Amino acid sequence: MQVPLLDLKAQYVTVKDEILAAIAEVMESQHFILGPKVEECEKAIANYSNCQFAVGVTSGSDALLACLMAENIGPGDEVITTPYTFFATVGAISRLGATPVFVDIDPVTYNIDVSQIAGKITKKTRAIIPVHLYGQMADMDLIMALAESHKLVVIEDAAQAIGSEYKGRRAGSIGHYGCFSFYPSKNLGAAGDGGMIVTNDTQRAEKLRVLRGHGSKPKYYHKVVGGNFRLDALQAAIVLAKLPHLDSWTAGRQRNAKAYDCLFVEAGLAEAGSGKSNVTLPKVAMERHIFNQYVIRVSQRDQLQAYLNNHGVGTEVYYPVPMHIQECFAYLGHKAGDFPKSESAANETLALPIYPELSEDQLRYVVDSVNDFAGQVKSREAAQESGPSHSSKA
Ligand SMILES: Cc1ncc(COP(=O)(O)O)c(C=O)c1O
Repeated sequence: MQVPLLDLKAQYVTVKDEILAAIAEVMESQHFILGPKVEECEKAIANYSNCQFAVGVTSGSDALLACLMAENIGPGDEVITTPYTFFATVGAISRLGATPVFVDIDPVTYNIDVSQIAGKITKKTRAIIPVHLYGQMADMDLIMALAESHKLVVIEDAAQAIGSEYKGRRAGSIGHYGCFSFYPSKNLGAAGDGGMIVTNDTQRAEKLRVLRGHGSKPKYYHKVVGGNFRLDALQAAIVLAKLPHLDSWTAGRQRNAKAYDCLFVEAGLAEAGSGKSNVTLPKVAMERHIFNQYVIRVSQRDQLQAYLNNHGVGTEVYYPVPMHIQECFAYLGHKAGDFPKSESAANETLALPIYPELSEDQLRYVVDSVNDFAGQVKSREAAQESGPSHSSKA
């Protein structure tokens, strides 16, 4: 059996007519950059995220960059975030000449450990970027309290978390800004790059609109330097066509996550002391988790990944190298061991297929394959224990 990590064709066949009609409408209009479709998409995403404003941009990466630019963050400023994230979070800070300041993760949720943030705040700190990793929100209450008392800006990196919730509040609606990505593998994916920023602040929304068009207002008059961060109408139309399906797709991901949980427990793989290679399941600490990824934790991760690959199961390691030990951030002066929770997550986590269209047989096959691998590990270990000892002679 084949179980790819993600099968976008399985989703496309269910919405093909709607998407092709949306594309045709844009083609007939010949209005490709910003314009009515982008505005319609902005209204819909703002509404979905319980925010007043949304600003369509070129990608989730540019969303983060534009928010930092809107706050005039640059050289001499510090921005707190986690080293266990996709590169874009930290890249945006560094590109503007500001200094990324890392806080290790909570090893259960993989999100920023809020109890360690206060210790990293200095006079230079300007912003905090919590990342809602894998589709589950960071613990926002303490982040917002710290931000308020130290006058910091909070930019939610919600690239993986559209529609997720923290105490009933939607991702992007709690901080000063929320950044979404429409990268095709996201829960709400475009047919190319795209992104959006949500905010409840009129002035910030206006500033972002100016910044995404090279800082021009009125046209050809530039008070600030921005960039070309404009969302195009084709991507907006596709996102709009998919949005009505997002909640049922999310429900499918949540259903699959529950099914995996049950199957792993049934197989005896997810209980402490089962004697097999144990699997740590993802923990839903914040309802609503939208499961952009279903990430397990195992000790022999690379061997398991190779085994699954050989047996037709696609997996991915998000992320093998935490940001503090990336070559391009060597100038920050960190070394291996500085953020141990992030480093062990990078060594032990594995994302399994979780897309909504997976069949029950496919889910079962994935867990059976993990179980077969665990069985092989166990028999190898038993053979080693009972076999002749190979102590080398002095
Ligand atoms: C946590 C996180 N931040 C930022 C981004 C950047 O988004 P994009 O790929 O749309 O630039 C991504 C997605 O790839 C992401 O997963």
